[in-house]
Amino acid sequence: MHGMTSHSKADDPISRESTRTLDALDRPLHDLRISLLDRCNFRCPYCMPETEFHADYEFLTRAQRLTHDEMLMVARVASGLGVSKIRLTGGEPLLDKKLPELVKGLSGLPGVDDLALTTNATLLAPLAGALADAGLHRVTISLDSLDEDVFRTMSGGRGNLTTVLAGIEAAEKAGLSPIKINVVVERGVNDHTVLDLLEHFRGSGHIVRLIEFMDVGNRNGWRMEQVVPSRELLERVQERWPVTPVGRNYPGEVARRYAYVDGAGEIGFISSVTEAFCGSCSRARLSADGVLYTCLFATQGTDLREPIRNGADDDELGDILSRIWLQRADRYSELRRPDVAEHHALSKVEMYRIGG
Ligand code: GTP
Ligand code: 5AD
Ligand code: SF4
Ligand code: SF4
Repeated sequence: MHGMTSHSKADDPISRESTRTLDALDRPLHDLRISLLDRCNFRCPYCMPETEFHADYEFLTRAQRLTHDEMLMVARVASGLGVSKIRLTGGEPLLDKKLPELVKGLSGLPGVDDLALTTNATLLAPLAGALADAGLHRVTISLDSLDEDVFRTMSGGRGNLTTVLAGIEAAEKAGLSPIKINVVVERGVNDHTVLDLLEHFRGSGHIVRLIEFMDVGNRNGWRMEQVVPSRELLERVQERWPVTPVGRNYPGEVARRYAYVDGAGEIGFISSVTEAFCGSCSRARLSADGVLYTCLFATQGTDLREPIRNGADDDELGDILSRIWLQRADRYSELRRPDVAEHHALSKVEMYRIGG
């Protein structure tokens, strides 16, 4: 459906069906999310609070990070195991100066039919055209509020709304659509600005998704009281603009979709806290230093960098990946107990390392 794909056996739905790799709970490996680097030009308090990620914080060095060739190798091998959807994340992936080259390599992989990028859009305006030319299909923008003060607070004092909106416009011009706008909703912080944001994007063709604030990592001070359940947000939306549910775009879709009855487009709710969706979770996550995680809330992963740098070939890496996936039984969100303190004391991997 998107852009260019090269033709090979792997494009054939029947032969791809036979390459399905199922985990211990019968979930196929379908998505690979690659975190390009752990740095970001924002300091969103729920992800990289300034108090911890200050000038002296030691981010990964270039030598610790996977090279683009190493990322491509993992992606190529994963696509051979059934991955057809790849998302590039960070930190902030646009801080990677050679991103278009990586995109070019990934978009040429047989079998990859959805190649997306998650960004805060600050650096997007000058890059959107080059990314589209390199074969990127679409972008998802993290944007928590259109209220200047709230946006500044939620970006840790770093974000500039005009620049972000210019980034979204450039992405639209470059055809990186459908554009999705991810809004992390935190009670008492930005929930009072959600309807204004929806109003702004109604009729634009962009899809706003309202995300329940999650207890990822151990540093964002998460408390259940800060979560606005999707059910409550849906009621607030319904009072203003009637919406009606629409079916999933694909099995395992994270967002519950709704359409405005008046035809002004679509919105989504991502309810990982109040309505877990582990049953259909088909996502593997690769951190910038080459650790493969099979859950967003993992406490540990498997290092792929060492075997790669020790000369593993595609078949050997494929064996490692399929072994990891076959053993996988993660379903953190289904088991989450907001009331049990030890559950949060687990040393979970941080969002900026695993890319959300
Ligand atoms: P589409 O491909 O456009 O449907 O988006 P996506 O499902 O890949 O979602 P995206 O990457 O934009 O993530 C949106 C929000 O959902 C973020 O806050 C993610 O952290 C969260 N999210 C995505 N995947 C998972 C998951 O596997 N588990 C949990 N708990 N949250 C997830
Ligand atoms: N809860 C929910 N979503 C989060 N994101 C980052 N941290 C959290 C959190 N604690 C979102 C970002 C981005 C996506 C990849 O994950 O806003 O849109
Ligand atoms: Fe950066 Fe995104 Fe984390 Fe905000 S949520 S600090 S934009 S990686
Ligand atoms: Fe998948 Fe883990 Fe999220 Fe459940 S909590 S949907 S298993 S990433």
